[in-house]
Amino acid sequence: MATLRVRHQDAHEFVVNLLKASGVSASHAAIVAQGLVEADLRGVDSHGINRIPSYLARIRAGVLDPKAEPTLTQVTPVVAQVNAHNGFGSPAAHLAMSTACTIASTFGIGLVSVKHSNHFGMSAWLVRQAVDRGMMSLVFTNSSPALPVWGGKSQLMGVSPIACGAPGGNDSRPFILDMAPSVAARGKIHKALRRGEKIPKGWALDAEGRETEDPAEALKGVMLPMGGPKGSALAVMMDVFSGVMSGSAFAGGVVGPYDLKGPGGVGHFIVAIKPDLFVSLEEFRERMGILYKKVVESDRAEGVERIYFPGEIEQLTEEERLKDGIPYVQDEVDALNAEADNLQVPRLKVLA
Ligand SMILES: NC(=O)c1ccc[n+]([C@@H]2O[C@H](COP(=O)([O-])OP(=O)(O)OC[C@H]3O[C@@H](n4cnc5c(N)ncnc54)[C@H](O)[C@@H]3O)[C@@H](O)[C@H]2O)c1
Repeated sequence: MATLRVRHQDAHEFVVNLLKASGVSASHAAIVAQGLVEADLRGVDSHGINRIPSYLARIRAGVLDPKAEPTLTQVTPVVAQVNAHNGFGSPAAHLAMSTACTIASTFGIGLVSVKHSNHFGMSAWLVRQAVDRGMMSLVFTNSSPALPVWGGKSQLMGVSPIACGAPGGNDSRPFILDMAPSVAARGKIHKALRRGEKIPKGWALDAEGRETEDPAEALKGVMLPMGGPKGSALAVMMDVFSGVMSGSAFAGGVVGPYDLKGPGGVGHFIVAIKPDLFVSLEEFRERMGILYKKVVESDRAEGVERIYFPGEIEQLTEEERLKDGIPYVQDEVDALNAEADNLQVPRLKVLA
C-alpha cells in the first residue's frame, strides 16, 4: 500500500484540534498528541495517531471523560498518587512522571501510582520524559485482557508493557527498553488489520486456539506470551504493581481502548531514580558510555550487520521521520479525516 508522509508538527496540530473539538482542554490535548506523535516518530506505529478514532469513540460513548482533571495526593515524602478520574491516560501519567522526577531530585527516588486511568499509549514517551530530566525510570501499566496465564486458554492478563530507561553516556544514546510481555504488542495486530496485512505465525491464536496469520481472527483469540511462562508472569507482575497496588481495576477488570463498555480503570506505576546515588554523575555517564560501546561493538553473529542498544532503532527512526515526515497509508488518513469532517476541524496535511 502506498504511503503518504505527514510532518510531525502537522500530525500534532491535527490531533490537538480533534481533541479540543471533543471537549479536551488545550493543555491535555497537547500532551495526548505528544505521546501519540512521538510513537509515530519512533516507528511504534501501533500506538500513534491512528489510535484517535477509538479514543474519540470512547468520548462519544460517554465512557471516557474528556474534561477530567487528574488530582495528586502526597502519600509519604517520596510517594504520591494521581487519580485520573477516568480522563485520558497520558496527562495523568505525564503528571505522575513529572512529580516522580521532582521528588527524586530531592530524595533520590520518587514513586507515583496512578489510578482510574485509561490507555496512555507507548510507554517509551514517559521514559523519555524522565531521560530528558536526567533521570532513570520504571514505567509499568496494566491493560485489558488479551493474554492467557500460562496453561490457560482464555484472555485474562493484559499485554501490559514493561518499560524502563536511563540517560546515556557522554557519547552514547540513552537506554530505553519498552516491551509488551507478549511476542508482539496487540496494537501491531490492529495495525495489520488497518493496513490489510497478515501477521506472522507465533504472535496469536484464534478463538479455537489455532495459530493464525489473520489479524481479525487473532483479535478474537489470545496473544501469545513471550518466553512462555516468563512472559505470562511479567504480565501478572504489571497487574500486581499497576492494578492491585493502586486501587484500580485488576485481574481482568480493565476495559480496553477499543471497547465502549465502560471506564478503563487502568492503573500505572511510575518510578524516577536519580542516576548519581552511588557514583558521581560524571562516573555514571562514563560507565554508560562504556556499556553502550561494549554492547554495540560486540562480536556480531553471522548475518547480523549492526548491533543496537535497546531503544536505539526507535531513535534512528525518529531522526529520519523528523526530517522526512511520518508515513501513513491512505486508509489510515481517510479514517482520520472522517473524524476531522465529523468534528468540522481541518483535515490532516499530507506532504506533496
Ligand atoms: N499502553 C498499553 O496498554 C500498551 C500495551 C501493549 C503495548 N504497548 C506499547 O507497544 C509498543 C510495542 O511493544 P513491543 O513489545 O511490540 O515492542 P518491540 O518488540 O518492537 O520492542 C521491544 C523492545 O526491544 C527493543 N528492540 C527491538 N529490536 C531490537 C534490536 N534489534 N536490537 C536491540 N533492541 C531491540 C526495542 O528498542 C524495545 O525497547 C511499546 O511501545 C509498548 O509501550 C502499550
